[in-house]
Parts: sequence; structure tokens; C-alpha cells
Amino acid sequence: MLIKLKTFDSINDGYLSVINESVSNIGSFKRIYYIYGVSKNVTRGHHAHLNLKQIAWCPHGSVEILLDNGVTKNKFSLDSPEKGLYIGPGIWREMKWLITDSVLCVAASELYDENDYVRDYDKFLQMVNEGYWSGN
Ligand code: TYD
Repeated sequence: MLIKLKTFDSINDGYLSVINESVSNIGSFKRIYYIYGVSKNVTRGHHAHLNLKQIAWCPHGSVEILLDNGVTKNKFSLDSPEKGLYIGPGIWREMKWLITDSVLCVAASELYDENDYVRDYDKFLQMVNEGYWSGN
């Protein structure tokens, strides 16, 4: 399973959402980061990961995530704090801010490692075609 849109359980009276090991699909996570201060229509991302597993959620605002496995592309809206998107290895992603100052949070299975990034789209397609992620 490389991509999965999830709804987090929420505890009522206002809402309290919890992301833990069992809902994240990434096992225990080693890193959490968040992206903010981004203007509407800015697109970030443009990369895939060799091994990293991530779950992304947007606690404030709305971010559209385009995911591409090299064959098909799908768009997901993270437009509610209860939605989370699991993104496995070998998935090219582009994140578009639909509302200025939306906050995008990510929990990641590993610490930051630039060597885990594939930032060239043609190289990504070549790796897909060579079956680099076929075991996932
Ligand atoms: P990147 O993952 O490319 O962000 P985005 O996909 O949102 O454009 O990271 C942007 C920069 O931040 C890049 O130079 C690497 C650095 N960075 C870290 O130093 N540590 C981290 O945990 C992350 C996610 C990025």
C-alpha cells in the first residue's frame, strides 16, 4: 500500500485528533516537520523518496496533494484537520496551497537524509520503469 487517505479518530467537545503508530502506517516515526507561511497557489514538493514513509495532514487551511506513482496521478485535498494522507516510497508528490497560510504537517519514518530524495522527474520515471519500488 503506497497511498492511503485516512480519517483520524476524533474526541469530541471541539475535536482532538490523534496520530499514533497504529494509524500512521509508518510504524514509529522519527521526525515531524511542518510547512507554513506559504502563499495561495504556491506548489512545493516535486520529489519522491527512495525509502521514506510519511503521513501528511493539514490542521489549518487546505492543501491539494498530487501523487504520482509513475503510471497514474491522483489528487487529494487535505482540507480538514481530521484527514491524513499516507505516502509511501516511490511516489512523486506536488503540494499546492489552496489557501494562504495553510499549515502542512508531516510525520516521517526516518530522519532527514537528502540521499533519500529523487528530485529529477525523468530519473524518477526511469527508476519506476526499472522496477526500483516494485517490491513495495
Ligand atoms: P523539501 O523536503 O524539499 O521541502 P518541500 O518538498 O516542501 O519543498 O525540503 C526543503 C529544504 O528543507 C531542503 O533544502 C531540505 C530541508 N529540509 C531539512 O533540512 N530537514 C527536513 O526534515 C526537511 C523535510 C527538509
